[in-house]
Amino acid sequence: MNHPKELQPSLTRSVGMNTDPMPTSLYTDPAQFETERERVFRRSWLMVGRIERIPKAGDFFVKELAIFKTSLIVARSEDGRVRAFHNVCAHRANIVEHRACGNAKRFVCRYHSWGYNNAGDLAHVPDEAGFLGLDKKKCGLTQVTVEVWDGWIFINMAQAPEVSLQEFLGPMADAMAGIEYPNPDHPIVLRGEFNANWKVVAENFSEAYHIASIHPKTLGPLYTGQANPFSRPLSANLYGAHRSLSLWLNPTAAPFAKSKFAQWLFSAGHSITGTRQEGQVNTITEHRGVNPTKNEHWSSDVNWFFPNWHMQISANQFWTHEFWPISSTKTMWEARFYNRKATRVRERLQLEHFTSHITDTMLEDFGNIESMQAGMESGAKPFVHFNESEILCRHGLEQVAKWSAAETAKDALA
Ligand code: FES
Ligand SMILES: [Fe+2]
Repeated sequence: MNHPKELQPSLTRSVGMNTDPMPTSLYTDPAQFETERERVFRRSWLMVGRIERIPKAGDFFVKELAIFKTSLIVARSEDGRVRAFHNVCAHRANIVEHRACGNAKRFVCRYHSWGYNNAGDLAHVPDEAGFLGLDKKKCGLTQVTVEVWDGWIFINMAQAPEVSLQEFLGPMADAMAGIEYPNPDHPIVLRGEFNANWKVVAENFSEAYHIASIHPKTLGPLYTGQANPFSRPLSANLYGAHRSLSLWLNPTAAPFAKSKFAQWLFSAGHSITGTRQEGQVNTITEHRGVNPTKNEHWSSDVNWFFPNWHMQISANQFWTHEFWPISSTKTMWEARFYNRKATRVRERLQLEHFTSHITDTMLEDFGNIESMQAGMESGAKPFVHFNESEILCRHGLEQVAKWSAAETAKDALA
């Protein structure tokens, strides 16, 4: 292949990674999944949402964590602090909050009406005199460790975190801190359950190698072209357990050349995948961690925070993917695409177009995610092979293997 000069001839080697095939059992072995629960997910800081979801005191959302057989209430208390609790009643352990989100001064268990304030303290017990020796102070909702970094809420499911959030994020935080996220309170949310291991789902959104093959009409016109037919990345960076790559944009792409309506629709600055338009200035592109080589043919970045979420970013929007394991072969996926709020009809139409376009793209992905797991389960192929463009998948898998083998989180981060 004739590489454009800007593309690395061997990205994998340039960042010091090996190029060997990787074992398929990492995706299929139930014992590996048990190890990942304890050594990857329990030790890691897990991103559960942005603070814009709970701006006011009493705002809360419930986060299902099937891998830990629990759900958490993530709430902003009256004192302004963000807290997280197991969503389980101290009376006889019923689930307390059944709404997905809302605003509450009290979380009231519907079974016998024990009530908790939004700092998690037990505030009300009907017929309290009927409990002999009940210590209400010890019967609050069970707290979970929570920290906020740059507007992202993280929880840690260890009894006590082995490493601080700052240590955990390490060089990724150094690279990404201070990004001004546009429209952080206005996401389109897509959600679905897959019959596939969480890593298979995560990997789908981590490589552009498949664009030419399964997205020729949706993403292909922008992300592939004569100069880069297989969507090779512009650059990649490994940040401790985390990783990032920058994708190329076809500078000659004219996806709407044939449609007068589409030209009108997109002439006001909102492009099909949020990519930059000519002459457009946006402060995101100035940030040191975004398009770090400042390549003029840049389309977007994939930032994969270990273990299970992506923050992807283009010149005028950002979006996230979360990959929540349910079992070794089931995953809950949730994507949030943050768009500007429509203030006129044309912007409303742009938003609708974006939603249908991105949904079409996702549908092209979905069948392959499940059929890949099915193929892996057959045992016919003990190894998988990663292309240069799949460098994030390789690093993700290597890190899972490293954390699975490490006695401590500190060892895993070393
Ligand atoms: S189980 Fe919650 S009030 Fe009884
Ligand atoms: Fe895809």
